[in-house]
Amino acid sequence: MVQPLISLLIVFSSIGFIRGWPYIPDKTYVQIHNVIPGANLTAHCRSKEDDLGVHVLPPLDQYEFQFKPSFFGATLFYCLFSWPEESHHFDIYDEKRDYYMCSHCTWWIKTSGPCSGSNQDKCTPYHWKS
Ligand SMILES: *[C@@H]1O[C@H](CO)[C@@H](O)[C@H](O)[C@H]1NC(C)=O
Repeated sequence: MVQPLISLLIVFSSIGFIRGWPYIPDKTYVQIHNVIPGANLTAHCRSKEDDLGVHVLPPLDQYEFQFKPSFFGATLFYCLFSWPEESHHFDIYDEKRDYYMCSHCTWWIKTSGPCSGSNQDKCTPYHWKS
């Protein structure tokens, strides 16, 4: 009875060690800005558990959602972004990619792809998912 408990403790503290101990998932915020010139951006984001619904963002408008990252590092939110000429998929929050990068994650949606960073002029460009 004691041994399985100790094994479990070792497993969890190992995860904690990897993620920074004590690992208490912080609330994470994802903010999406439409910077596509003169177009309404339709954003539909989902995870395995949640459908965040369809949001239409006028030019320069933004929308934000929040969640708690999973203890196991598996949180993934993916979106379909569309505007009159095009539509593209993108993983807007991938815990493996983003956990150490941001707890307030800001994305600037451009025609060329999403760009990550609080400052639009210094953001890091990403490619659309093929
Ligand atoms: C965005 O959508 C609204 C509502 O349908 C419309 O009135 C507006 O003209 C659209 N804006 C652009 C830039 O297409």
